[in-house]
Amino acid sequence: MTDEFLGNANFLTSDQTVSASCPSNIALIKYWGKYDQQIPANPSISYTLNHCRTNTTIAFYAGDAFGVQTFLSGKEEFKFAEKIGKYFKTISEYLPWILTGRYVISTENTFPHSSGIASSASGFGAIAKCLMLLDEQFSGKTDHHFLQKKASFLARLGSGSACRSLYEGLVVWGKTPEVEGSFDAYAIPYPNDEIHSVFKNFNDWVLLIHEGEKSVSSTVGHGLMKTNPYAERRFLEAQENFVLLKEILKTGDMKRFIQLVEHEALTLHAMMMMSEPAFILMKTGTLEVINKIWNFRKETGLDLFFTLDAGANVHLLFPENSDADEIKAFVVKELLTHTQNNGLVKDVMRF
Ligand code: DP6
Repeated sequence: MTDEFLGNANFLTSDQTVSASCPSNIALIKYWGKYDQQIPANPSISYTLNHCRTNTTIAFYAGDAFGVQTFLSGKEEFKFAEKIGKYFKTISEYLPWILTGRYVISTENTFPHSSGIASSASGFGAIAKCLMLLDEQFSGKTDHHFLQKKASFLARLGSGSACRSLYEGLVVWGKTPEVEGSFDAYAIPYPNDEIHSVFKNFNDWVLLIHEGEKSVSSTVGHGLMKTNPYAERRFLEAQENFVLLKEILKTGDMKRFIQLVEHEALTLHAMMMMSEPAFILMKTGTLEVINKIWNFRKETGLDLFFTLDAGANVHLLFPENSDADEIKAFVVKELLTHTQNNGLVKDVMRF
């Protein structure tokens, strides 16, 4: 099925420099558990962010011995270079020219590195976009849809969730009967006409509760699902949640949306608590914020809710509508105090 992405062997001899920008994304139904080469154990869906992005430039020196140098905000990163070198080798069957030169990759994030916002998603997304810009020159293929699809496919081989960052809005990755054309090897946009307008103008404010290194890497976290006794039930539940979400997205049922999204976030964390070894990824501030959000919702009836990544920071989600100002004032007054350094990253999804 992925044969369509195999490359042809036209090689160019000239040096090239390409640049691309790619946003991060935040999952609503989470990807947690995978097989080889980031084949997901269940389908997932995310919002692609807007302001939180990685900007990347790749200079390719044709004909030089294969090698990769990487710079993050101007500082040379040797470990990252090693990772990208390995990544290029794993995708060489899809881009046959890729080992025929030397690379200098300069990359910067528009959000703080310590924020826990998935820089691997935007990072691999941006690299995959750059690679497809190079590939256009080698292959002469210019079909935009194909290039975007292949970029999503290549990004997945770098980091699973990255494949969702190649499209705007709501994006699905992983085979599910609920979304026609969905596939494990790459992501596709969720059909726009199946999304109620209330979901098309949404805030994601990230409270930076803890800015240190994550206590568990995604790779280790996914690996722990292999021995988690609840894993199979969880994978099934993600499928079931797609059935519910499909209806919610169509009807604009915000209350059920909130319930489902928070349940997904808490399930991800529950899975980590039930792993062997166990991990508690929340901090005290995370719990305090969650309780305050729940009280706020009870008292005001306003649509402020949360999702979490595999870390302590809280993504505050709320629609951009006439209630948004009251919600924003509450966040600044009541929730910011639970961050380490008044850390708040504001993003908004509009599509
Ligand atoms: C909790 O995509 O970072 O953010 O495929 O091993 O690179 P790898 O993992 P990664 O996992 C992300 C997990 C998550 C949920 C999600 O984004 O769906």
